[in-house]
Parts: sequence; structure tokens; C-alpha cells
Amino acid sequence: MKKILILNGSPRKNGKTASLINAFSQGAERTGNEVSSLYLNSMNIKGCLACEKCSKNGGECVQKDDMETVKEAFEWADVVVFASPQFWGTITGQLKVVIDRLYSEMHRLGFENFVKETALIMTARGDNYQFALDFYAIFVNLLGWKDHGTVLGAGKEDEAREIGANIK
Ligand SMILES: Cc1cc2nc3c(=O)[nH]c(=O)nc-3n(C[C@H](O)[C@H](O)[C@H](O)COP(=O)(O)O)c2cc1C
Repeated sequence: MKKILILNGSPRKNGKTASLINAFSQGAERTGNEVSSLYLNSMNIKGCLACEKCSKNGGECVQKDDMETVKEAFEWADVVVFASPQFWGTITGQLKVVIDRLYSEMHRLGFENFVKETALIMTARGDNYQFALDFYAIFVNLLGWKDHGTVLGAGKEDEAREIGANIK
């Protein structure tokens, strides 16, 4: 049983990304995993200031906002799933801001302990996912997160359900 956090970067609550997230969650819960999802669009999270205070003071961020909730959930999770529609080739601003702010969490935990399992869920109008895959590769290849798979494309609910169900 794994604890799975889904970071939902879609602004549309009942859109195509949400539909894939639902299918993924169903699959994951069916095989005994615990799933928690954060709808980032409704949260108040400012962009990283690049002040680098967190890199000098044990990972404490100078900004106090809803990122506290994300960080608690991040610490709780074994698996962190990035879910987003494609905006201009890559993830939405809502999700990017959160990932930037995880910089302080990386400094708090240390590089070695900032390792999770992961998956990517993305929908797009077209079918070019290259920028998004480059973004995802930073986590899998550079940070060494374990890849559970990618669901690329609206309507791939069955694939999403299966990837969720295979997490153990
Ligand atoms: C601001 C914006 C930028 C977008 N950029 C792209 C893009 O670069 N490539 C693409 O294929 N689709 C693009 N789209 C389309 C969305 O990715 C697509 O409609 C997606 O499935 C919507 O997901 P949702 O239902 O979760 O909102 C864009 C949509 C918006 C609103």
C-alpha cells in the first residue's frame, strides 16, 4: 500500500485532466493505495522569490501561504503524481509555481531524502508532449524518482486506471 499525492494543475475542475485523475485514483484505490489530491487552482501559492534563504536556514521558506499544506502532503506521500493540461507545451502555471516552491523542501529534507515515486498525467489538444516529457525527466533522470508511467492524452482513462492499479 502506497500513499499517493496527486498535484492537480488543471484549472478546470471537471475537465479532461480531472477525468484521468479520477480513473487513476480509482485504479490506485482498488489495489489498496491511499490517494489524496490537491486542486492547486484554488490555493493561494505565490511564486518562488529566489531569495535562497531556504538554502541557508535548513529549508524554511520566508513565504507563508498554502504551500504549507502542499509540503505536509508531500512529506506524507510515497508517490507524487504530476497532473496537468498542457499549456504552451508544458505544465500549467498553477503546477509550476508549486514545483518551484518545493525547492525549500529539497533544502529541508536534503537532496537524498527528496526522492519520491512518480507518474505524469497530461492532456492536450494536440499530441506533442516533448516539453512535458523533458520536464518529467528532471525528476526521473536527474533526481532519481521512480517512474510509474505517463498517461499522455485525453480519453486514456483505461491507461490511467491501470497505472494507478499497478502501484503497490
Ligand atoms: C492557455 C492554454 C494553452 C494551451 N496550450 C496548449 C499547447 O501548447 N498544446 C496543446 O496541445 N494544447 C494546448 N492547450 C489545450 C489544452 O491542453 C487541452 O484543452 C487540455 O486537454 C485541457 O485540459 P482540462 O480539460 O483539464 O482543462 C492549451 C489550452 C490553454 C487554455
